[in-house]
Amino acid sequence: ATVTYNLEITNGTCNPDGNGPRLCLLFNGQYPGPTIRATWGDNLVINVKNSMKDNGTSIHWHGVRQYHSPGSDGVNGLTECPIAPGDSKTYSFQVTQFGTSWYHSHFSSQYGDGVVGTMIFEGPATANYDTDLGVYPLSDWYYQTAYQINAITLQNLANQGPPPSADNILINGTNKNANGGGSYSQVKITKGKKYRLRLINTSVDNFIRVSLDNHQLQVMTSDFIPIVPFYTNWLLIGIGQRYDVVITANQTEGNYWFRANVATDCLSGNKMGALAIWSYDTVTAGTPTSSAFAAVAAGCYEPAGITPYWKQPVPSSQFLNSPLTVSLTRASFTPGGELHVLWAINGSSMNIDWSYPTLSYLMDKNTNYPTDLNVWPSSAEGSWNYWLIQMAPNMPPVPHPIHLHGHDYFVIGYGNGQFNQSTASLNWANPPRRDTATLPGGGWLAIAYPSNNPGTWLAHCHIAWHVSEGLGVQFVETPSQVTLPDSAAYKKTCDNWKAYVPTSYW
Ligand code: C2O
Repeated sequence: ATVTYNLEITNGTCNPDGNGPRLCLLFNGQYPGPTIRATWGDNLVINVKNSMKDNGTSIHWHGVRQYHSPGSDGVNGLTECPIAPGDSKTYSFQVTQFGTSWYHSHFSSQYGDGVVGTMIFEGPATANYDTDLGVYPLSDWYYQTAYQINAITLQNLANQGPPPSADNILINGTNKNANGGGSYSQVKITKGKKYRLRLINTSVDNFIRVSLDNHQLQVMTSDFIPIVPFYTNWLLIGIGQRYDVVITANQTEGNYWFRANVATDCLSGNKMGALAIWSYDTVTAGTPTSSAFAAVAAGCYEPAGITPYWKQPVPSSQFLNSPLTVSLTRASFTPGGELHVLWAINGSSMNIDWSYPTLSYLMDKNTNYPTDLNVWPSSAEGSWNYWLIQMAPNMPPVPHPIHLHGHDYFVIGYGNGQFNQSTASLNWANPPRRDTATLPGGGWLAIAYPSNNPGTWLAHCHIAWHVSEGLGVQFVETPSQVTLPDSAAYKKTCDNWKAYVPTSYW
């Protein structure tokens, strides 16, 4: 079937935790935006209208493969020009995966201002449960706009300081604030029933750890991949990652806290969290007195125990592709001489051209990519890519959630310090597969995937500041076989973008 959605982005206000209204960029007047629902095999057609006053945008469908539709991946500078204010674009793609994900602006750090929504793709049953509770997006929240935060970040940098802390954490777009205003998300459950809950970390800068007091989480999927179920008290979710969990209502009937805490062991200075109230339907809903499970041993790594349900080995190989080494520099720019942080891969900080994206190069058969587009060739169709992502020595030990577009990748291994193939423990037999995994602070992440999807695919750190500071590469895969978008519509978007003269952010 063809499933159509219309999304309009507007300037508005939002007040998710009762701290007071702030400027917000909304999908159809809402934050978070509407949940997009489709079934495995459907064609999704999503008309996006940019009715913001003075902001370009492009919308990315996180984790969607985009087979034969790289022009709908929503990455300005790679797969499209930004959509100018007043302009519209139709994204259309086939749903070839099932499970839970999200969509968000891929225009600079704009999604920190609210341009975020969730997606549910129905498919074969992968879990036993009675009721699907839908999605819990978990997010950090700032009382200032992404633009203001960016200005503060630049000031902090001048003193070698970190980016500003978040002001709050939200569960499903709500929480109380430090002064007690706002409200908690509330859920009713029935003794003896099993509930499916879809967890997504939609933050800009924070890893989040979740739990429901007294109840274990049975983890059923990692990103779009069904896994051999495992039980845990606490689940760490990197930015961009998703887990579907099943919760059995098998405790004394009462009220329980659901907790979403910033994972401070992921080197965040934000010691905060959000709460939600889960109540059995035979008791009066009220403030829980339950206590949290004991804290887990610190460590910002992929959760252990992820084994894909459908086994798929990786042909064992040395890491033939040269390592992608991540480093950081500080530099001042004119005008104003502001200090900037630049993240680089193999010495090159990614600097895309919004008016001439990579698909324009393919349309024009132009292979003259400037170095700072960070274009890397992929292996031939059907053969494997092996990438070692390595932090350069003496870098700040910040973990990075590495997201790859157009593919699920196989997580062969990860570790601290510098990679050493003779001592590293690598999993070739049935490694976790997902579209976002954690590069440990100061460490390495080894990934593999077959070339089976011609296109140009961004790999980047999902910390919003890091991607805008250049921490990305793009893999141009089998350029001669890329399905190019309709050139009239594509060119119209670019022409409208080039004609647009920005005046101010708001
Ligand atoms: Cu969730 Cu490149 O994005």
